[in-house]
Amino acid sequence: MNRSELPIGLFDSGVGGLTVLKAMRNRMPCEDLIYLGDTARLPYGTKGPDTITKYALQASARLVERGIKALVIACNTASSVALDALRAEYPDIPVIGVVEPGARASVNASATGHIAVVATERTIRGQAYQQAITRLRPDADVVGIPCSLFVALAEEGWTDGPLVEGIAARYLDPIFNSGQSAPDSLVLGCTHFPLLSAAIANVVGPGVAIVDSAATTADAVAAELQRIGLGRQERCGSNHFLATDSVNRFARTGGLFLGHTINPTDVELVDL
Ligand code: DGL
Repeated sequence: MNRSELPIGLFDSGVGGLTVLKAMRNRMPCEDLIYLGDTARLPYGTKGPDTITKYALQASARLVERGIKALVIACNTASSVALDALRAEYPDIPVIGVVEPGARASVNASATGHIAVVATERTIRGQAYQQAITRLRPDADVVGIPCSLFVALAEEGWTDGPLVEGIAARYLDPIFNSGQSAPDSLVLGCTHFPLLSAAIANVVGPGVAIVDSAATTADAVAAELQRIGLGRQERCGSNHFLATDSVNRFARTGGLFLGHTINPTDVELVDL
């Protein structure tokens, strides 16, 4: 088979990476996309680097064995910990993470260079965003805020209202509403968080640009496929979903992330 006909594989710990799939579908309507949500082992963001790397290698192996032309780590936590390991494991497949594209989007959105990153505990502790942003803008002042509860809220489909805004305020008020000069840009450094962006915007206020890495990651994937001559142009692409736990739950919450219904019969249960 011509390699350009193969699907692009994506994985995340759960349904959050569907925000990346959605952006890729818009950017690359002709590509087939195969998405694995490791729902049985979510969350990744509170686990240690060795565990996350092991999970990322296992999830990727499931996708690679089906034949893919590129691998997208649709999870900031796995991107921040396991990008190098995955590139070493699959030297013949482009492996694209979401942290670099997210860092680029935040630098483009910030006038002052004072940038906040909300992400999982592991992504913040590993400093991946802080380092990626300062590589692009050495004078940037980057503050990282671990917001682990946002993952559970998004997976539960609780995305707005006083409870969600109360939790967001508890995390964000010390940085954005303390009377000190606040960041002008806030990166959603977790693929689950775009679902909460309206509630987050209500807490940080209208002067703060909220950015996520989905669109810039889709651009990066499209550019790489074009560079290596593997882009596909001529027909309507398909989505295929794999989950490591309840296909019904994946379909229900995944539909919220995609903005349209997923039929449980379109989700395949896999074991890693
Ligand atoms: N969606 C993942 C991320 O982008 C992590 C969620 C989790 O499993 O903790 O970091």
